[in-house]
Amino acid sequence: MTAREKRSQYKSIDSFEDFLDSAAAEIRSAGLWRRLKRIDSPQGTRIKTSIGDLLNFSSNDYLGLANHEAIKAAATEVLERYGVGSGASRLISGSLAPIHGLEQRLADWKSTESAVVFGSGFAAAIGTIPALAGKNDLVILDKLAHACLFQGAFTSGAQVRVFPHNDLDRLEDILRRRAAASSVNNRRTLIVTESVFSMDGDQAPIKKLIELKEKYGAWLMIDEAHAAGMFGVNRSGLVEAMSLTDAVEVQMGTLSKAVGAVGGYICGSNGLINILINRAKSFIFSTAPSPATVAAASKAVDIIKSSEGEHRVRRLWENVIAAAGILMERPEYFNLPRHVTGVAEGVSSPSSAIIPAIIGETNKTMESSRQLRERGIYIPAIRYPTVPRNQARLRITLSALHRADDLESLRNAVHALDL
Ligand SMILES: Cc1ncc(COP(=O)(O)O)c(C=O)c1O
Repeated sequence: MTAREKRSQYKSIDSFEDFLDSAAAEIRSAGLWRRLKRIDSPQGTRIKTSIGDLLNFSSNDYLGLANHEAIKAAATEVLERYGVGSGASRLISGSLAPIHGLEQRLADWKSTESAVVFGSGFAAAIGTIPALAGKNDLVILDKLAHACLFQGAFTSGAQVRVFPHNDLDRLEDILRRRAAASSVNNRRTLIVTESVFSMDGDQAPIKKLIELKEKYGAWLMIDEAHAAGMFGVNRSGLVEAMSLTDAVEVQMGTLSKAVGAVGGYICGSNGLINILINRAKSFIFSTAPSPATVAAASKAVDIIKSSEGEHRVRRLWENVIAAAGILMERPEYFNLPRHVTGVAEGVSSPSSAIIPAIIGETNKTMESSRQLRERGIYIPAIRYPTVPRNQARLRITLSALHRADDLESLRNAVHALDL
């Protein structure tokens, strides 16, 4: 008797397998089936995969810190002193000293009173939003905000409204209607957005968002996942670069992108951080982060703030400008937003390390990714549901470590595309 036949003696288990089969068939028939690609090397501009060595233009390790020698040494030292695991949640016995050290560094970096670290950026979002808003409150999100922010909003039980991407008139409509409804006096409104959008690489109009939230008595939460490490004198993000730290109630970030490690964080007032420690379920009911990764993140923040960090960001922007120019050479295939064409034409500075080369149709985008891979370039296709339908794209990300010959290889592969 096969395992499946054995299991089919129990009707409910068999129907569970039917469910899995039909769910898989549905995803496949929509052309959206995904599988994991194993990488047999550290994260970097050159990666080893089952189909050979590839030049990587798809990492969020923007500053090339994920495999940095001094950061690895800092992590190794703490690994030796504190071991691998933290053993418990923060509020039980897992609040190891290196985590407190990182939180102090993050607060200093962002010039806020305090900071708290979560296991991931996703965990930070789904813990924080429900800690601040609940039934009868309103959470308003930019349509292109990351899935974790939406998940946090839905989990909160608050009413959720969405405004079209960066459309402040529509946001104001929502805020105005909320203010006019007398039944909602004293109820909270939280606006949630990103400073750099993860799939489009453009920026939010932070100053205007602040004007609006102040006009209507709302609060603002900004996810700096793709901006932290690159903007401002300390390179802590766009909020710092615009000198708006005191005007943003909740600053969120992740340690998994430019910082090169793993984990998420919230920076803000002492009051905010104390409430999160007491209310955010993904903080309270989750084991504290590993001391070694925390030590890596601390060292990475030091490096980002130093002249080495400044140099790496300069190299990153040079690479973004070069890559934007290369993609503009195939206008018949790539629809590039203005923030990218402006960079290539030298009329604007890079808004991020992310270049969305929008192709539109899923199959064509998959094929472009395949052809690039055949020429040694790794840029996976990003498709629905990560981006809207008909906006499938190559999401090209640059690293400070890409060299001139890497960009030349990208140019050759892009010129060879035949779609
Ligand atoms: C904008 C944004 N926020 C949050 C996250 C989640 O962060 P993490 O990967 O640390 O869970 C991501 C990562 O994919 C992101 O792009």
